[in-house]
Amino acid sequence: MYHKAMFEKLKIAKMYDPSEHIVVYPGDCLELLRHIPNETLQLVVTSPPYNIGKEYERRLKLESYLEQQAAVIGECVRCLSPRGSICWQIGNYVDEGAIIPIDTVLYPIFTRLGLRMRNRIIWHFEHGLHCSRRFSGRYETIIWFTKSNDYVFNLDPVRIPQKYPGKKYFKGPNAGKYSCNPLGKNPGDLWVIPNVKSNHIEKTDHPCQFPVELIERIVLSMTNEGDWVLDPFLGTGTTIIAAIRHKRRGAGAEIVSRYVQVAKQRIEQELAGTLRTRPMNKPVYDPIEAGNSLTMSPWIAKQKSKQMVLLEKPTRKQRYSAQ
Ligand SMILES: C[S@@+](CC[C@H](N)C(=O)[O-])C[C@H]1O[C@@H](n2cnc3c(N)ncnc32)[C@H](O)[C@@H]1O
Repeated sequence: MYHKAMFEKLKIAKMYDPSEHIVVYPGDCLELLRHIPNETLQLVVTSPPYNIGKEYERRLKLESYLEQQAAVIGECVRCLSPRGSICWQIGNYVDEGAIIPIDTVLYPIFTRLGLRMRNRIIWHFEHGLHCSRRFSGRYETIIWFTKSNDYVFNLDPVRIPQKYPGKKYFKGPNAGKYSCNPLGKNPGDLWVIPNVKSNHIEKTDHPCQFPVELIERIVLSMTNEGDWVLDPFLGTGTTIIAAIRHKRRGAGAEIVSRYVQVAKQRIEQELAGTLRTRPMNKPVYDPIEAGNSLTMSPWIAKQKSKQMVLLEKPTRKQRYSAQ
């Protein structure tokens, strides 16, 4: 059994060793993976470079990109425990305006290695680039694979509140009893979680951080205390933060020294209990519900129409009298 106090005293190691709890390798992920023995990791979760020309990427032809990804995925599978999981979080490769959903081209790489897909999770968020020649992208995917059919999946720690917790069976032997699981419902495969943009409490200089809550859900459901969690493309250290928050061990590699520093700083803050993050399962901010004045459209207000302002949330009475 792991205790928080044990984690508070931990140091951040530079290289994997079975006796360590936190590893931030400042370099190429394949070098770190080479030091990890077979079947050691319970979970690999990552968001690789998307090959869309971010500052840390050298834009490659799709074939070369897939070859590089295949090499990392192959090593991760070697290090994965028989009951382990791999989650690859990805978006689109954009080629002269045409999009290629990267999960679709990576899928055969995972299945050729004998992995089985358990979910293709849609991660929906509301902020991002505004496109003018196609609909703006507001989701990415997390493809989840396991090494065998006997895999760790803990649903209870990640259940979410039901829409109608007061619902009861109306007939049969359980008539009158509550029909819902008191621990909540399965969160499903469409996850609505804000992405880390400028107003997000977790924002650093990195252009595409994971929100911690996204990885907490994956860590809690696919691992147990003390297990190793690896992120080969660590960025700002989010995966390690989610892992140690829940008493797992975390390792990752990051090639850009500036992000290595950010990752270490955030991990230290997590250990000290000072890292500010958006809590898991906090409802998404609703500006209309919050009474934010910017939700009033100046164009519609100017029309002084007697019709109800469509963007306003009507009261119950208005809802029925406006027709
Ligand atoms: C999409 S970002 C991941 C961000 C991360 N999920 C977070 O929450 O901050 C990918 C990261 O992989 C790093 N990277 C790219 N190639 C790498 C390699 N071969 N080995 C290790 N890190 C690499 C990049 O510098 C970048 O920070």
